[in-house]
Amino acid sequence: MRRFADGRDWFFEHRFGLFIHWGIYAVDGWQEQDIFRRHRTRVDYDRLVRRFNPAKFNPDAWLDLAQQAGMTYLCFTTKHIDGFCMWDTAQTTYSVMHTPYGKDVLAMLADACRRRGFPLCLYYSVVDMHHPSYPNAGQSYEFAGPQPGDTPDLARYFDFLRTQVRELCTRYGKIHGFWWDGNVRRHRDPSINAMIRELQPGIIINNRGMDDGDFGTPERDWDESVQNELRLERPTEACQALGSQSWGYRRREDYYTDKHIIRSLANVLAKGGNYLLNTGPKADGTIAHEDARMLREIGRWHQAVREALFDVEPCSHLVENRNVLLTRRGNTLYVILHKEPVTRAVDLLPLTALPRAALLLNTGKPVRVANDMLPWQYKAGRGYLCLHDLPPHVLNATVPVIRLDFDQDFAGDAARP
Ligand code: GLC
Repeated sequence: MRRFADGRDWFFEHRFGLFIHWGIYAVDGWQEQDIFRRHRTRVDYDRLVRRFNPAKFNPDAWLDLAQQAGMTYLCFTTKHIDGFCMWDTAQTTYSVMHTPYGKDVLAMLADACRRRGFPLCLYYSVVDMHHPSYPNAGQSYEFAGPQPGDTPDLARYFDFLRTQVRELCTRYGKIHGFWWDGNVRRHRDPSINAMIRELQPGIIINNRGMDDGDFGTPERDWDESVQNELRLERPTEACQALGSQSWGYRRREDYYTDKHIIRSLANVLAKGGNYLLNTGPKADGTIAHEDARMLREIGRWHQAVREALFDVEPCSHLVENRNVLLTRRGNTLYVILHKEPVTRAVDLLPLTALPRAALLLNTGKPVRVANDMLPWQYKAGRGYLCLHDLPPHVLNATVPVIRLDFDQDFAGDAARP
């Protein structure tokens, strides 16, 4: 993986983060794009402002949960497509300061992150369905056209945006990442990214904004390269939500299965990417029960197998079996079963060396290994390394990870014809 050799390299040390979508859309609990998808009028949508009063908001509770999941950084939606600002901005009254709550939630969150040494990244939507200068013209995340009282003017809108971004980069201490989204106008102004970098040296910027940025942001399971590549060469942060329908809090969410999320997480981490997993807190500031349960469950898996995914080299190319991913640290090889296993044995052709020890990290129990001449390989005239009798209760439930400790370099043999 390409490194930056500067302050941005924090990103490679903190590879699993919590994405938080929180705004007034949590009040109705339908979806973060409520105003766009349900064609709500501004007048109707803006009633939510008077109802936003997250009396139970406690950023430390969010960070506790993130840490239980094994996460070590956070990305927070400062402004989504609705244009509502979750910080004390001087550029508009359309902000959390003008809700019954009236407190700068970003400041509270930034403080909590600083106290724990938790890198904080900020999400900011370029599209803005509230600002009178934003030229709505019926693209995704826009109104069909200007709304009553609007004075569309892209240049003016960008002055506003630039000033807001400056606020975000100067008032909340160290900001580790800037996460642009919703640039449906494809407006590219690299000078804005340059300003961010000047105000926040060492900040990492994504590819959805003013230029190609520092890292890619494949979303959910839609990007095939994340599935097909064995190793991610460009800095990558895959993003995924716990719910399939929404990033913001949704009352009747259709959640992914735990196993689906764990597989997706294993897939990205084993290939050297970062993973940003989202929850949408409720309007009262708490995290929904099911989201919390899932995060803890993911944390249990992460705790047991984390040594296979961090500070390791992705090396899946060493075997032919495409149902497994491999990572290594020196003479230790990790085998990650990120797909639905179809049998109880795993062959690692063309590896032949036998490990000194083999352990299923999920249970801490040993795994039987052999250098077998299997019927299908008989013609090859030699046996290959095989893991046997993996327990069905683990195979069926989660992503099994096996650690193999070798006395010497295990790949030497494989390299030979
Ligand atoms: C999608 C959604 C948007 C969300 C983003 C996070 O683009 O449309 O609402 O903020 O994903 O990656």
